[in-house]
Amino acid sequence: MKIGIIGSGYVGLVTGTCLAHLGHKVTCIDQDRRKIQTLKKGKIPFYEPGLFEMVRENVAAKRLSFSTEISSVVNRCEVLFICVHTPPKPDGEADLSFVEKVARQIAIHLRKYCLIVEKSTVPVETGEWVRRTIKRNVKKGVHFDVASNPEFLREGSAIHDFLQPDRIVIGVSSERAEKIFRSLYSPLKAPMIVTDIKSAELIKHAANSFLATKISFANAVSRVCDAVGADIEKVALGMGLDPRIGKQFLKAGIGFGGSCFPKDVGAFLHISEKLGARFELLADVLRINETQARYFFEKIKNSMKNLRGKTVGVLGLAFKPDTDDMRSAPSIPIIQMLQKEGVRVKAYDPQAVSKAAEILQNVDYTATPYEAVHGAHAVAVLTEWSEFLNLDWGRIKKLMPGHFFFDGRNMFQPAEMKKNGFRYFSVGRPSA
Ligand code: UDX
Repeated sequence: MKIGIIGSGYVGLVTGTCLAHLGHKVTCIDQDRRKIQTLKKGKIPFYEPGLFEMVRENVAAKRLSFSTEISSVVNRCEVLFICVHTPPKPDGEADLSFVEKVARQIAIHLRKYCLIVEKSTVPVETGEWVRRTIKRNVKKGVHFDVASNPEFLREGSAIHDFLQPDRIVIGVSSERAEKIFRSLYSPLKAPMIVTDIKSAELIKHAANSFLATKISFANAVSRVCDAVGADIEKVALGMGLDPRIGKQFLKAGIGFGGSCFPKDVGAFLHISEKLGARFELLADVLRINETQARYFFEKIKNSMKNLRGKTVGVLGLAFKPDTDDMRSAPSIPIIQMLQKEGVRVKAYDPQAVSKAAEILQNVDYTATPYEAVHGAHAVAVLTEWSEFLNLDWGRIKKLMPGHFFFDGRNMFQPAEMKKNGFRYFSVGRPSA
């Protein structure tokens, strides 16, 4: 099938590339000329494992191309995916101005039937609003369908998540649209949930909010564990082995970040209130998350007492491993709080340093973890990159004048770190 992807950010580029990999002919559009130039040169503007190779293969096979012009794809494609940003406004409401602009542009150029799909995470009823916007602006007599097909991609494993999904959710209002989706995704083996458009929109918001709730729940329990000297890792395992609860997303730490959870939970809270069904629980989920970084910072402050003039070696900056994404990374407030107390921060991350440097000033970024901890009074692990598991902690201890170790991701065993000579603190676990 011929597919147009409008918005070549993270979701758009992964979706377009994977659809090309399935054999479709895909054009990825973006109004940002620099981004399209970069992509045309075979470069990817962010780090995602396996994506670079897959883009290269599909460009070479002439299944994937890039353009800045929406008009160039509208009448050549059977399906158009809207993958533009829906950033949060200050009150949490999703800003749909990019979606609206794209809907108008599609309408102006559309001359024959097309399935227009919202892939960006949008508040419930956006599909209906997109349909009305296109209807108002399209040439009389031109037919189209609007549908919702939310993505569930995780950064760092996006290609796997696309090609081996747990489920494919499509919200449609016609048999024709459903048939197109079935043909589009026929190479994928996954259950297809076919719903009305509003239910599909809600599935995405509800799923992300539920996952975020699990994390905040674990973080809240971890504080109780700290208060009594219990172990959150054991508590989470004991809870999670009940299949009704499930083990995943119960990992306590310094809070969730990224481009989705903070934004989507806020947007869901906002739309629920607007619809007169305020989802109060979500306000608490956000509050727990927002205070978790401070909670961790206070652990550092209370243990080290006087922070002024001290050096902290930070390991990991990205909001999670296997990505260079710094959006809403909990490392940002933690480092800023440390700096405010007069701490010198040195930091290492395998991928995120250049993005971090745009946000966090006065940090000494280093090329290796060993340089980051050299001369430090404390180590702070803020992202659980697997390469940290293989570090030579004996060597690290010798490089440090101090012996404090703050593990924001519960990556290490307290007893082992004690053996390595550290005063080890983590989240919701007794120190050894
Ligand atoms: C998320 C959803 O998982 C995905 O389905 C959706 O399409 C986009 O949003 P992503 O933001 O890439 O994906 O990351 P995810 O792996 O879900 O982690 C989100 C944040 O939660 C990270 O900061 C991570 O460190 C944190 N997290 C995750 C925890 O603190 N504890 C956990 O148990 C799991």
